[in-house]
Amino acid sequence: MTDLFEPLTIGAWQAPNRLVMAPLTRNRAEGTVPGDLAVEYYAQRASAGLVITEGSQPSARGQGYLNTPGFHSPEQLAGWRRVADAVHAADGRIVAQLMHAGRISHPDNTGGQEIVAPSPLAAPDEMFTAAGPKPYPVPRELTTDEIPDVVEEFVTAARNAVEAGLDGVEVHSANGYLLHQFLAPGSNERTDQYGGSPENRARLTIEVTKAVAEAIGADRVGIRISPAHNIQGATETDEADTDATYEALVAGIAPLGLAYLSVLADPSLDRTQRLRKEFGGVFIANDGFGQVTTKESAQAILDDDLADAVAVGRLFLANPDLPRRWQTGAELNEPNPDTFYGGGAEGYTDYPALDA
Ligand SMILES: Cc1cc2nc3c(=O)[nH]c(=O)nc-3n(C[C@H](O)[C@H](O)[C@H](O)COP(=O)(O)O)c2cc1C
Repeated sequence: MTDLFEPLTIGAWQAPNRLVMAPLTRNRAEGTVPGDLAVEYYAQRASAGLVITEGSQPSARGQGYLNTPGFHSPEQLAGWRRVADAVHAADGRIVAQLMHAGRISHPDNTGGQEIVAPSPLAAPDEMFTAAGPKPYPVPRELTTDEIPDVVEEFVTAARNAVEAGLDGVEVHSANGYLLHQFLAPGSNERTDQYGGSPENRARLTIEVTKAVAEAIGADRVGIRISPAHNIQGATETDEADTDATYEALVAGIAPLGLAYLSVLADPSLDRTQRLRKEFGGVFIANDGFGQVTTKESAQAILDDDLADAVAVGRLFLANPDLPRRWQTGAELNEPNPDTFYGGGAEGYTDYPALDA
C-alpha cells in the first residue's frame, strides 16, 4: 500500500509526498497582479508535493472573477516571478492553473473585454462584480476562425508561466469554465467541428493541451477535468454521452505523455477509473466540494489504489504545513469560509504553522 508521505515522480518534478495543494481561487490579486501576500501564502505552503496555483487567466478576456491573477502582462509576470522564487527557496514546486473563464464572467470584471464562449447561452445565476452581483451576460459565440486564438492564449500564458520561473501549468478543463463549456452539451450548441459529437466537443481541450505541451514540454503540463460535475450550466446529463466525451478527450491527450491527469469526481466511479487507465500516467484525485478531504479520506484513496496522489483544497488553505500536521497527527486549523474569497491577510496568510 502506498503512503501519502511517499515520494512520487510527477512529470518533470520530484514530489516529496502525494499531497497536492489543489487550485484555490482567493481573489486577492489587486489589479490582477500577485502581490506580497501571495508570495507569502504560496511560500508557506511549499511543503506540498506540488502546489497548484489558483485559477489564473491566460488573457484579459479570460478573467472571470474579481481580483484573480493573470499570466499575460509584464506586471503579473513580475509578481509571479517573486512567488516562484519564494516557493523554490522553500524547496517547493509550483504549477500555474490556466483558467479561461469563458462565459463565467462579466465585462465589469474584464476591463470591458467582451465575453466569449462556445455558444450564445448565458450561464445561470449571477457574477459578483465591484458593483455587486449582476446576471451573467449572453456571451458572444467564438467563430471557428477564432478558435486558434484561444489556443494561442493558453500557449502564450504557459510560456509566460515558465519564463516567470513556475515549474509548469495545469490546463483547467473543469468546473464549468471555457474548456468545460465546450465539452458539455448544456453550454455547447455549435454546429462546426467544435460542437455536436463527443469527439467534436473534446477537440478544443485536446488542441489546447497538445499545443501547450509542444510549447513547454509535456512533462510540465497537467490537466484537470470534472466529468458530469453539472455546475454553472455546463451540464452533462447523458451518461453515455459523458463517457464518450471524456473517453475521446483522454484518447486525444494520452499519447502526449503529460505530467498528470487530475479529476474532480468520485474516484471510485467506474468512469473515473476507466479514464485513469486510458490515460496511463500519474493520476490525481479529488472528490469535490461535498465533503472536506481529510487525512483518512485521502489515505483511503491511495489504499484502494484509486489514484497516485490526492489534491487537497480547504485543509491546505487553512494549514500551511499540512503534510507535517497529517504526518505527525497534530491538530488542524479550521478553514473559515467567510475569508475564502477576497480580503487581505486574514484567512490567507495568518493561519499559523505548528511552530509559530
Ligand atoms: C475557496 C476555493 C476556491 C477554489 N478555486 C478553484 C480553482 O481556482 N480552480 C479549481 O480547479 N478548483 C477550485 N476549487 C476546488 C478545489 O480545488 C477542490 O477541488 C475542492 O475544494 C474540494 O477539495 P477539498 O475537499 O480538499 O477542499 C476551489 C475550492 C475552494 C474551496
